[in-house]
Amino acid sequence: MPRQDPDHRALRLGCGAALFGLRVAAVHRGRHPAVRLLPCPDGPWHFADVRFDGPGDADSEPGPFHAALTRRHTSRFPFTGEPVPAEVLDGLRAAAILEGCRLVVPGAWHTGTVMELVHDSELFEAADEAARVEIAAWTRTGAAGEGPVTEGIPAYALGPRQHDVTVPVRDFGVSRRVPGRASARFGRNPQIVLLGTGEDTPEAWLRAGQAMHGVLLQATLDGLATSLMSQPLEWPELRFGTRDPGSRVGCVHMVIRLGYGPAGRATPRGPVSEVLTFG
Ligand SMILES: Cc1cc2nc3c(=O)[nH]c(=O)nc-3n(C[C@H](O)[C@H](O)[C@H](O)COP(=O)(O)O)c2cc1C
Repeated sequence: MPRQDPDHRALRLGCGAALFGLRVAAVHRGRHPAVRLLPCPDGPWHFADVRFDGPGDADSEPGPFHAALTRRHTSRFPFTGEPVPAEVLDGLRAAAILEGCRLVVPGAWHTGTVMELVHDSELFEAADEAARVEIAAWTRTGAAGEGPVTEGIPAYALGPRQHDVTVPVRDFGVSRRVPGRASARFGRNPQIVLLGTGEDTPEAWLRAGQAMHGVLLQATLDGLATSLMSQPLEWPELRFGTRDPGSRVGCVHMVIRLGYGPAGRATPRGPVSEVLTFG
C-alpha cells in the first residue's frame, strides 16, 4: 500500500503475525522452530528463516496459543462496555513481553488523546483520494469484478455502519454502498491497548507483528473480542502523538481494541503455497 504504508511497516507487522502463527503451529506439533529474523543483510525482503530443528515440547511457548489460532477473528462490532479485568490485561502485557515488545494500557486522558488522533486520521483520509482508492482496492463490497475472493476484506467482515462520526472501529466501507449492511451505535470510550517497541526498525516491526498475534491470541483464549486500529499510525504527523511520553514505548505499532462482544467471522486466506516455501 504505497500511500498508506510507504516504509512497509504494516506489511512487516502482517508478516510477523504470520510468522508467529507458523511458530505456534510448529510447537503444537512438537517441533522446535529456530527463527532468524532478516537473515540476509543484502536481502531486505527476506524477512525470516525458520529451521525446525528437532523435537520440542508442545506445552512450551508459544504452543498453547494453538487453541485460539483458528478461533481469532477481527470483530468490527460494538462491545458491551464491561471492563476487562486487570489480571486479564496483565496476561496480555506478558504475551507482548515474551516477544520483546511492550503493551501499554492507557489511562483515560491518553485514551482520549488516541481517539482524537483517530478522528483526525479519519479527516485526513477523507481528504486524501489516493488513500481512499487504496482502501477501496483491498475491501470488497460484493460488487462484480473485485478479483479473487481470497484477496481483500470481505463485505461481511466490515461490521455494521456507524451512527456517530468517530467511533473506535474503522469504517472501511464508509464511502461505498455495501448492500444489506446494518447500522449500530458504538461506545465512545473503548478499552484500547497500545503495542510498541523502543526502536522503529524493520526488525522491531517483525517483532511487533509476532507480539501482536500473541496478544490477540491470548485475548481470544480469555474470551475477549478484538479489532485493530492502525489509522492514526498511517500518518507520521499523528503517529508520534499516540505514544505516552511517560512510558518507555517510543514507537507505537498497533492500537488494539478489546472487549466482550460478538465474535467476528472468519475471512478467507490465500493458498499456503503462495506464501510459504520449504527449502
Ligand atoms: C498492519 C495491520 C493493520 C491493520 N489495520 C486495521 C485497521 O485499521 N482497521 C481494521 O478494522 N482492521 C485492521 N487490520 C486487520 C485486518 O483487516 C484483518 O486482520 C484482516 O481483515 C483479516 O481478518 P481477521 O483478522 O479476522 O483474520 C490490520 C491488520 C494488519 C496486519
